[in-house]
Amino acid sequence: MLVGVAGGIAAYKACHLIRDFTEHGDDVRVIPTEAALNFVGAATFEALSGHPVSTTVFDAVDEVQHVALGQQADAVVIAPATADLIARLACGRADDLLSASVLVATCPVIIAPAMHTEMWLNPATQDNVATLRRRGVIVMEPAHGRLTGVDSGAGRLPEPGQIAEFARTIIAGHRVDHDWHGLKVVISAGGTQENLDPVRYLGNRSSGRQGFALGEVAAQRGADVTIVAGNTDALPIPSGASVVRVTSTRDMHKAMNAEAADADIVIMAAAVSDYRPASVADSKMKKGAADEDLAHLELVENPDILKGLVERRENGDLKRDAIIVGFAAETGDAHTTVLEYAQQKLLKKGCDVLMANEVGEGKVFGQPTSAGWILRKGADPVEVEPGSKQVVAAQILNVVNEILER
Ligand code: C5P
Repeated sequence: MLVGVAGGIAAYKACHLIRDFTEHGDDVRVIPTEAALNFVGAATFEALSGHPVSTTVFDAVDEVQHVALGQQADAVVIAPATADLIARLACGRADDLLSASVLVATCPVIIAPAMHTEMWLNPATQDNVATLRRRGVIVMEPAHGRLTGVDSGAGRLPEPGQIAEFARTIIAGHRVDHDWHGLKVVISAGGTQENLDPVRYLGNRSSGRQGFALGEVAAQRGADVTIVAGNTDALPIPSGASVVRVTSTRDMHKAMNAEAADADIVIMAAAVSDYRPASVADSKMKKGAADEDLAHLELVENPDILKGLVERRENGDLKRDAIIVGFAAETGDAHTTVLEYAQQKLLKKGCDVLMANEVGEGKVFGQPTSAGWILRKGADPVEVEPGSKQVVAAQILNVVNEILER
């Protein structure tokens, strides 16, 4: 395994990451950039990895090191990746040993960015990240929190333990020639919208990020991934996944039933409108006393797609051993905790796995991060520490994989 380290203050955290990998038995070669050595000395990386360290293509030329390291790697994990390194990789530069090795590597490349929020959000960086993702590079979402100075925001390096766990999920998928090769995974993502009239709708704040992250990780494991996406146009389509776009709950219901028929894993990550207007006006509804439609909406209940999928499995309309995963967005109240509500929901819906999120006050919905519990029939809940939706996706799919392996 290659661990790349770019020149940012978070470079010191790469030491914990390298330690984590070596303790799990990985043979790690560290390639820092020249700038990284301003933060951590080569001696530290050499001692931690047990291998010599260089930054340039002109060392060990007789061993053709600039090609050999990338060719031999089973994974490249770069943490931290700075805006400058991301720009160089997006351009396909090979002006130091790390960028040259990435250009040679055909194994999974996982990048954990760390930089100030402004640099991360700059369109130049976002375009470079999109370019890398389109080429199949796995770019982790940076964490939110304290940055180098007094400022805080998006751009913090995810915790080394999270990067290592996430990388292991991706690598495990690739090592055995994609462990989910031949499996069909169908995921609903985003929120449904219910039309009131030609210009208005009832909807929710779901961004679709969790569903798309699940699609990204499942595709990295080699699965055939279909995302049934409600209103998520701004999100990039994960490499290797296809998307069916829907608007209303009834559209999503139809698409999920059709796509799930031959699926091995079905995940309802979408936020589905439970009700829709009883009728949709042909022309824009007007406010005012003469027309009270807007003040008193009559709603009718939508189908419960998740519950319906569990019933379809029982009736033989889905594969009998299909694994069905649901989500629960809960706030809890004075009498019942989020976890208790989620446990009730697992039983009510009849799915095999349920990811329970505590929502509200800027938590989870529309945010890049998530946390909560993964519940499974007949097993203790697993607490999920706050992390990016990709990291959470990897943990959910690891639980699904345990069920697959039984
Ligand atoms: O009942 P509640 O909306 O809290 O359940 C959440 C789970 O059920 C999610 O997995 C969501 O995608 C799914 N759901 C559904 N159809 C609905 C409402 C929710 O499939 N009409």
